[in-house]
Amino acid sequence: MLRFGVSLEKELLEKFDRLIREKNYSNRSEAIRDLIRQELVKKEWLEGKEVAGAITVIYNHHRRQLVDKLTDIQHDFQKIIISTQHIHLDHDNCLEIIAVKGMPEEAKKLADTLRSIKGVKHGTLSMSSTGMDIE
Ligand code: NI
Repeated sequence: MLRFGVSLEKELLEKFDRLIREKNYSNRSEAIRDLIRQELVKKEWLEGKEVAGAITVIYNHHRRQLVDKLTDIQHDFQKIIISTQHIHLDHDNCLEIIAVKGMPEEAKKLADTLRSIKGVKHGTLSMSSTGMDIE
């Protein structure tokens, strides 16, 4: 592990310390390491490196055509989908968590396609990393 010094304005450092307290970091170093990792992961998504992530969708399963559509689309993107988990939230609503690994454009395209289907109430894409290039 290497050490380096950082110069900061007093006000900025106070804001940073408040932020890391709110986020429960044990110290500044761990908070800074995490910020760096976040930027590295952002770069992976921008530069088209292989990435990993999760897509979530919330929908009403009583709309039968919707269920078929969601299944068809997932078959079309089978190359990047590594796992799908289906959770019955209540009598009407389902949550699906789709784990993906592959090219960022494909992952975004899948998330956009699923989100745009009529009847999908909410959809998110969590952009993460394969972990290969971050420490
Ligand atoms: Ni269900």
